[in-house]
Amino acid sequence: MTLLKADHITKSYAGVHALRDASFELRAGEVHALVGENGAGKSTLIKALTGAVIPDSGEILLDGTRITENSPGISKSLGIAAIYQQPALFPELTVAENIAIGQERDGSVFGMVNWARRKQRAKELLDRIGARISPEQIAAELSMPQQQLVEIARALGANARVLVLDEPTASLSEDDTRNLFRVIRELRASGVGMIYISHRLEELPAIADRVTVLRDGQTIDTHEMADVSSKQLIQLMVGRELSGVFPKREVPRGEVVFELRGFGSREAGIRGIDLTIRAGEIVGIAGLVGAGRTELAKTIFGLVPPDTGVMLLRGKQITIGHPSEAIDLHISYLPEDRRRHGVVLDLPISSNITLASLKHLSGFKGMNFRKEKEIAAEYTRRLGVKTPAIYNAVSTLSGGNQQKVALSRWLVTQPAVLILDEPTQGVDVGSKAEIHELMMELAEQGVAILMISSELPELLGMCDRIAVMNGGTIAKVFDRTDATQDLILSAALGH
Ligand SMILES: Nc1ncnc2c1ncn2[C@@H]1O[C@H](COP(=O)(O)OP(=O)(O)OP(=O)(O)O)[C@@H](O)[C@H]1O
Ligand SMILES: [Mg+2]
Repeated sequence: MTLLKADHITKSYAGVHALRDASFELRAGEVHALVGENGAGKSTLIKALTGAVIPDSGEILLDGTRITENSPGISKSLGIAAIYQQPALFPELTVAENIAIGQERDGSVFGMVNWARRKQRAKELLDRIGARISPEQIAAELSMPQQQLVEIARALGANARVLVLDEPTASLSEDDTRNLFRVIRELRASGVGMIYISHRLEELPAIADRVTVLRDGQTIDTHEMADVSSKQLIQLMVGRELSGVFPKREVPRGEVVFELRGFGSREAGIRGIDLTIRAGEIVGIAGLVGAGRTELAKTIFGLVPPDTGVMLLRGKQITIGHPSEAIDLHISYLPEDRRRHGVVLDLPISSNITLASLKHLSGFKGMNFRKEKEIAAEYTRRLGVKTPAIYNAVSTLSGGNQQKVALSRWLVTQPAVLILDEPTQGVDVGSKAEIHELMMELAEQGVAILMISSELPELLGMCDRIAVMNGGTIAKVFDRTDATQDLILSAALGH
C-alpha cells in the first residue's frame, strides 16, 4: 500500500537543478533507502516531502490524497517526521521537554504544563524504543546517538507514520548502529514507513527493503534491495564503475616528523600516549566511541591543554597553547564535527578554502584574489565539489560537499602534519576515493598523516600503522601487514 508519494518533483535554486522530475514512492511498513552522490538531491527530496521546501512543480500525495498546501507544521500534523543530518534538539531543554514540543495534547490544561505527565509520556516513548535515557537529562549532555533516539521518540509521540532518517549512522559506532537498526525494525513491524538515506552502501542490505537511486536530481531507478549488489548501486549512482580498491602505494618512510612521549591531558581524559609519525607515513587511530581519539587530536592541536609528556616536531620539543600556534607550525586538524566547526556557512566557498592560508595569500599589496580563485577552483575541481560558482555561500552546498570544502582548507595549508578526524564521513563513494588519492599524494610529498576513522576497512586500506585506543590511551599498535579487523576490534574492546 502506497503511503507517501512524490510525483514528478522539480526544484531549482538560482540555476541549480536540485530535483528534476523526481518521483518516489513509500509503502507502509517498509524501509526505503535513498542513495546518490553528494548533491544528487536526496535532502532536497526529503525537504519537499516534509514541507521544508516548496517544489517548483510536482505533487506530494499522502494515502493517495494530494497535499495542496504544505509546510513543516502541516507535514508534521499529517504524521510525517524527519530526522536530519544534524540533530535538532533544543540543547538547553530536558529530554522530556524536547519530546513534548510539537505534541499538541500532552495533558496540559489552560496553559498549565503537566510536568509529571510529560515525564511519564517521555519515559513510555523512550521505553518503547528501548532507549535507556532519563527524561530529566538536559539534551546538550546527551551523546549524538542518544540525541537521535530522543528525536525518534519525539516523532513517535507525534504519531509519525512516515519517518525520514537522513544519514542517521554517519557518526554512530557499530554498537549504536545495531541498536538503531533494532529500533527501525520494530517501527517497520508496527507499520511505519521509513526513508533511509545513507552513504554506507554496505549497511543497506541489513536494513532496507527497497532502494531508489538519485543522480543529478533525477530518480534513476527503484529496486528490491535483495536484487541489487552494491557494485550495481554504485554504477547507477555515479554512472560508471569504480574499482573499490584503496589507492594505497608504498612510500619510502622519511625522518620522524611528529612524536608524542608520555603525552596526556587530564581534561581530555587521555594519558601516556607514545606515538611517532614519519614523513610519508599514514598512521591510523582506531577505537570505540569514547576511547579518546578525538580528544587526542584536540589536545595536539591546542584546543585542550596537555599536562604530561612532550610533543616533538622534527626532534624539537614544541608546545601548542592555541590552534593558531599549531597552524604556524604547519600542523593542521580537520575536526570531526565539520558542520559546526569546519566551515563558515555564510562565507563563499572560495574564502572557506583559503581561510587557513591567508598568511601566504596576503602580501603587502593586500589579498591576492587571483591566487585565491585559482586555489579554490583547483580544489573544488579535484574533490568534485558540486556547485555552479565558487563564490556561492557554503550554506548552499549539500552536506557532503560542505565536508569536501572543510577538507580542502587544510590541504591548501601545505601541512607538515595533517590530522584528519573521520575525513570521509558523509562523503559519497566517488569522492571518498578522491580523498584517499589526495591523502596518498600528500604522503608522497612527505606529509605525516594521522587519520582517525570508525571505518575499519578504510584504516586497513590506507594506513601504514594503526594505533588502537582504549580508555584514553593507546592499547596496541599494529603494522599494516599484521592488522586485521578482528585484531583491531578485540584491542579496541580491551582484550
Ligand atoms: N538553499 C540552497 N541554495 C542553493 N543551492 C542549493 C540549496 N540547497 C541545495 N542546493 C543544491 O541542490 C543540490 C542538491 O542538494 P542536496 O542537499 O539535496 O544533496 P544531497 O543528495 O542531500 O547530498 P549529500 O549527500 O551531500 O547530503 C546541490 O547541488 C546543492 O548545492
Ligand atoms: Mg544531504
